[in-house]
Amino acid sequence: MFLKDVIIEENRELKPGNFLLSFRDSEIAGESKIGQFLELKAGKGNDNLLRKPISINDVDGDLVTIIYRVVGKGTDRLSQYKKGDKFSVLGPLGNSFPVIKDKEVLIVAGGIGCGPFSYVMRTLPNWKIFYGIKDACEFLLEDELKAHEKSGKAFITTDNGSYGDKGFVTQKLENYIKENGSDKVIFACGPEVMMKAVGNIAIKYSMEAYLSLEEYMGCGIGACVGCVKKIKNPSKKDGWEYKKVCKDGPIFRADEVIWE
Ligand SMILES: Cc1cc2nc3c(=O)[nH]c(=O)nc-3n(C[C@H](O)[C@H](O)[C@H](O)COP(=O)(O)OP(=O)(O)OC[C@H]3O[C@@H](n4cnc5c(N)ncnc54)[C@H](O)[C@@H]3O)c2cc1C
Ligand code: FES
Repeated sequence: MFLKDVIIEENRELKPGNFLLSFRDSEIAGESKIGQFLELKAGKGNDNLLRKPISINDVDGDLVTIIYRVVGKGTDRLSQYKKGDKFSVLGPLGNSFPVIKDKEVLIVAGGIGCGPFSYVMRTLPNWKIFYGIKDACEFLLEDELKAHEKSGKAFITTDNGSYGDKGFVTQKLENYIKENGSDKVIFACGPEVMMKAVGNIAIKYSMEAYLSLEEYMGCGIGACVGCVKKIKNPSKKDGWEYKKVCKDGPIFRADEVIWE
């Protein structure tokens, strides 16, 4: 884990309110594992005290990329940075997706939940990606995913049918499993309702599945206990315990998450 100032190489609006930011740093790039995140300090001094957790989207040599959606003050500040500006990064943080080489990995992403997956697709040999968005205007990583769609590796759905198949991406995932078998592993990231649905599919077909969960974070390094989720643990009196999304996660097995 490193704490350092980095210089922005690019901070480009991909779609209204959604940005891709990159910087070069050989130490952060060298330590980053698939599914990990960075804590970014957007703003100066007391301007925005809390760091913001954002997934590592891709690592290519020493180039680290993130994609983010503007939802509040921190991400808005982040969006105002220009090429050449300096900002503070802490990371890489959290656990990672397992590196699976002997099975096909079914990547399921919802909206900005495609965040962690360019690096996953670059790293793993055998995968398909299922990407669900509400409307075509939210299509992120569009060039990359359309190229994968052409080669039969990406399946895109929109809730309103404005691109790809109309409907939820979880239906597409389930159809694929029915047609191609369940001897595969699932990685997912997206809104909680989608995570629950993916988890249910994994349990229904007895599949190994890893969900990248989100929780509002304070410190990002396990110190404030502000980011806990209920996780099954048969050795505990009640059969579960609280685990920290920032340190024990953000990735948990679908069969160990207790949804509230
Ligand atoms: C491990 C992890 C990885 C993430 N990766 C990405 C990513 O790759 N790209 C991306 O765009 N976002 C990602 N997020 C979410 C991102 O951290 C938040 O959107 C960001 O911190 C919001 O900061 P803000 O100051 O702009 O908004 P705030 O002012 O802090 O919040 C604005 C609104 O969003 C709500 N909110 C903020 N954070 C969350 C959250 N985590 N869950 C639910 N509601 C929230 C607040 O309650 C508030 O209503 C990730 C979160 C986690 C925990
Ligand atoms: S954010 Fe502080 S313990 Fe996780």
